[in-house]
Order: sequence, then C-alpha cells, then structure tokens
Amino acid sequence: MSAKPFLDVFHAAPAERSPIWMMRQAGRYLAEYRAIRAKAASFLDFCYTPELAIEATLQPIRRFGFDAAIIFSDILVIPDALGQGVRFVEGEGPRLDVLEDRMAIENLASRLDLERLAPVYAALRGVRAMLPAETALIGFCGAPWTLATYMIGGRGTPDQAPARQFAYRDPEAFSLLINRLVEACIEHLILQIEAGAEAVQIFDSWAGNLPEAEFLRWSQESIARIIAGVRAKYPDVPVIAFPRGISGGFARFVQATKADAISLDTATFLAEARASLPAKVVTQGNLDPLVLIAGGDALDRAIDDILEATQGTRHIFNLGHGILPQTPIAHVERLIEKVRG
Ligand code: CP3
Repeated sequence: MSAKPFLDVFHAAPAERSPIWMMRQAGRYLAEYRAIRAKAASFLDFCYTPELAIEATLQPIRRFGFDAAIIFSDILVIPDALGQGVRFVEGEGPRLDVLEDRMAIENLASRLDLERLAPVYAALRGVRAMLPAETALIGFCGAPWTLATYMIGGRGTPDQAPARQFAYRDPEAFSLLINRLVEACIEHLILQIEAGAEAVQIFDSWAGNLPEAEFLRWSQESIARIIAGVRAKYPDVPVIAFPRGISGGFARFVQATKADAISLDTATFLAEARASLPAKVVTQGNLDPLVLIAGGDALDRAIDDILEATQGTRHIFNLGHGILPQTPIAHVERLIEKVRG
C-alpha cells in the first residue's frame, strides 16, 4: 500500500471506497480560479507561468481534498511546442494555424521545443512538493487523433470533419502527423513523470465520431504506441486512457493499448462496460456533468447508480467529461460526501 488511495486502486484489491477526482477540476467554476486567471494575459501564458499553474492545480485540492491533482496545463501545448501557432480566444476556444496539406505537416518541428514546455515540468515539480502526502499527481496529454482534429481544423469542430476528410484523402500524410504526435506524446509524458507525475491520462476527447476502422488506425493504435513508449521507460506508472464517445469495444481497446485504466464517458452503460472488462482493469467515470449542475435527488440517484454498478471493482469516481463552469460548489461537496460515505 502506498498510502495514496488513488494509486492503491491500481495495485491493491478493490478498496472499500473508490478514490475520486474530477476532470477539469481546476477551472472557471471556482471563484479562486477566476481570480488568478485574470492575472495572466492569455490562457497559454497562464499555463506557462509555474506559480499560476501550481496555484490552479492546488485550488481544488485545498477546497475539496480530491484523491488526485491533475497538473494545470492543456492538451494544446503539444502543437504549440511543435511550432504551430496556438491561441485561445476569450469565450470561443482555441484557434490554431490550419495545417492545410502534407507540406504543412512536414514543416512542423520534428521535436518538441522543450524550452517552451519547461514551465509545465517546473509546475509539476512545484505541485509535487506542495501536495498533501495522500494526494497523487496526474500528468496528461491529448491523444494524437484528438490533437490532429484541432491541428487540421484550426479549432474545435463539432464532427471533426476537417481531420476525418484529410485522413481519407491523404492517409499517408495524415499518418506522418500522427507519428510525429505519438513521439511528442511519449516524450511529454516521460518528462512529466520525471517531474513528479505519478500517473498519466491520455485524453482522446474526439475518438467517438470515427468509424471502427478509422478508430482502430488513428486512435487505438496510436494510444497503444504511446503506452508502449512510456512503459519501456516507466513500467510501473499507471496509464489511464479516455477514448471518449466510443460505443463498444472497451475490452478490445484495453487489451490492444494495455492501458491500466479506461475512463468511460457519460453515455457509457457502466455495469455492462465493467462486466466486459477483466477484473484487474480499472474503470473511471462517469457521472454526467449536467446532473452535477442540477443537484438534488437526480444527483443523489446518479451517484448511487455509479456506486452500485462499480461496487467491489477497481473504480475511480469521476465525471464522464469535464466539469462545467456553471457547476455549484455545494453540489461538488455533496458528491464527495456521498462517495466517501
Ligand atoms: O483541471 C484540469 O483538468 C487540468 C487542466 C486541463 C485543461 N484542459 C485546462 C483548461 C485539462 C486536463 C485540459 C484538457 C483539454 N483541453 C482537453 C481534453 C479534455 C476534454 O475536456 O475533452 C481538450 C479537448 C482541451 C482543449 C481546450 N482547452 C479547449 C477546447 C478549451 C476551450 C473550451 C473551454 O472550456 O474554454 C480549452 C481551454 C481550457 N483548458 C480551460 C481550462 C481550465 C478554460 C480556459 C480559461 O480558463 O480561460
């Protein structure tokens, strides 16, 4: 036992209670986050200023005592560190210089600009030094497919049409991009582990719109390669994969990628997915972020349903996707109180 409930779930027999953290637990639903966010000129400046990133990472831990902290950063630091311009437009979201063709892909840097990313690793070291002993620290990256949807579309796109079309039209050029991202993700995760991350999560937020063959080729396979690359150096660091929106094939995904844990989105039928997975595989999820806004009986029932579906199994209590800015603090407190019994 490591005296960290979050890490124990990967190593020990199923615990009496599931550890809990929330995706996007640092963010705009917290007044103290909005206060420090106002100090940075841009969202990326905020991510790259260790004092601010450290403080944002610790805020939800101080307030709620989650079992894990996730480093405050963003998945788009990888395209940024490959030389593609990235900026965040207030109230709209990320904007990137569009990768139009094979040439644009070939022109990306072949390696991450580690000077650009140094503040992320500095923030991890700072957080690790300040975290309570029982709290684990999670590092993360975006999966290559999801990163590619932003890099090719130039922004968030509702159905990822630009990247899907590009991959159909020119699969060779697209695989050049995916390969470069696989290498970048491996390096970024390894450096996060070396800076103090005790587990890592790979966010494939846009895995769900792909037909099966495309999913296997661009999403599942690249995640498998990242995990193999990280394991070659750090065999014992747990890896959580989040193939958001996939509608089946959970057991095949875990078998192919060798992920230690699979994060399940809100629409996943939890008991059924759990039953399809080997007992040693950890599940994570999948409370609806909207029911956390609603609160009341609906919230209590939704929490009980998850506790019941995962009782006696290795499970990390989490949301099915990131917490939304309108979420009342009292509902998060209620959630923690119920999960901790
Ligand atoms: O607390 C945490 O979870 C750690 C920090 C974190 C952020 N982004 C901070 C953030 C993490 C893990 C992410 C992951 C991320 N970023 C994903 C994958 C997870 C998911 O939600 O699907 C994706 C797709 C992104 C890209 C991204 N970053 C978008 C589309 C946006 C704009 C939308 C929005 O919510 O504003 C961001 C900005 C962002 N990243 C914010 C935060 C707290 C909000 C920006 C702000 O505070 O100004």
